[in-house]
Amino acid sequence: GAPVQVNISKVEPGQLIRVEWRGKPVWVVRRTEAVLTELPTHNDQLRDPDSLEPQQPIYAQNVGRSINPEYFIAVGLCTHLGCSPTYQPDSFGEQVKGVTSGFFCPCHGSKFDMSGRVFQGVPAPLNLVIPPHQYLDDGTVIIG
Ligand code: FES
Repeated sequence: GAPVQVNISKVEPGQLIRVEWRGKPVWVVRRTEAVLTELPTHNDQLRDPDSLEPQQPIYAQNVGRSINPEYFIAVGLCTHLGCSPTYQPDSFGEQVKGVTSGFFCPCHGSKFDMSGRVFQGVPAPLNLVIPPHQYLDDGTVIIG
């Protein structure tokens, strides 16, 4: 599949947009300051907080699992059996204590944080996949 060029300049804080790459849904989420502040605080609830499993390019092996922390780019497929998790921008606290937003898989209840890191105690074994990507400029990312 060819790389996909995405204009991210109009994505608002908190917003998720979907694009397709190699027949898969890819999300681009613009993370808020509050989300970025929260990300390092719940490592002890995650299965692979440091992204040691090779679910991302090496340049995205960091807390945001990203190049630019403001933008989270991930393949939107659950690592359990491939359902598409639901983005929950402001109702995640009832599902995981102290976590205000994340992704919930309706198929078997797996939960992921705003870096796509899987929480403990759910069926999904691995963090979400981060596709290879690079920035052409501040408002343009190339996926693939
Ligand atoms: Fe997501 Fe099973 S496919 S929890």
